[in-house]
Amino acid sequence: MRPRWLIVLGALGVIVLNVVVFVAFWPPPTPPPDASPAQRLYFAHCLTCHGPSGNGSWRATLFLIRPGNLADPRRMRALSDEYLFDIIKHGGAPIGNPGMPAFGFHLSDAQIQDLVRFLRALPRKE
Ligand code: HEC
Repeated sequence: MRPRWLIVLGALGVIVLNVVVFVAFWPPPTPPPDASPAQRLYFAHCLTCHGPSGNGSWRATLFLIRPGNLADPRRMRALSDEYLFDIIKHGGAPIGNPGMPAFGFHLSDAQIQDLVRFLRALPRKE
């Protein structure tokens, strides 16, 4: 006969797996119907980590990702447009912040520029 603790452990494993899958695939919010193209890009690519208003998402917190606060006016003022463009296009890895993925393969330069303008407006939205 199989020891009972093995069955209990298996059941616990299934529960934990369910919670992880549930959290990872919980559908993120959709953009408002009147969203601009840049806002749609943000919702599609950035929101899972940076949150709807730029100050981080619960999902990121849960996975111990610390994406900073893109809605903090003082912080954003200190960052140049070139810096924002580069970190979106090439990700954070080249400057030692590997948490931020690169989007150069998914987005055109024009789309990234659009996103930079969108980020500039984030602190004022709150
Ligand atoms: C997988 C999660 C993730 C996604 C998706 C993501 N980011 Fe990030 N981002 C991060 C993390 C983590 C950092 C912080 C890197 C660090 O400083 O260590 C970051 C940093 C940044 C920064 C720099 C902030 C600063 O203060 O230096 C900008 C700007 C940024 N992200 C914009 C975006 C945009 C725009 C998108 C969508 C195209 C996006 N991110 C998608 C995780 C993510």
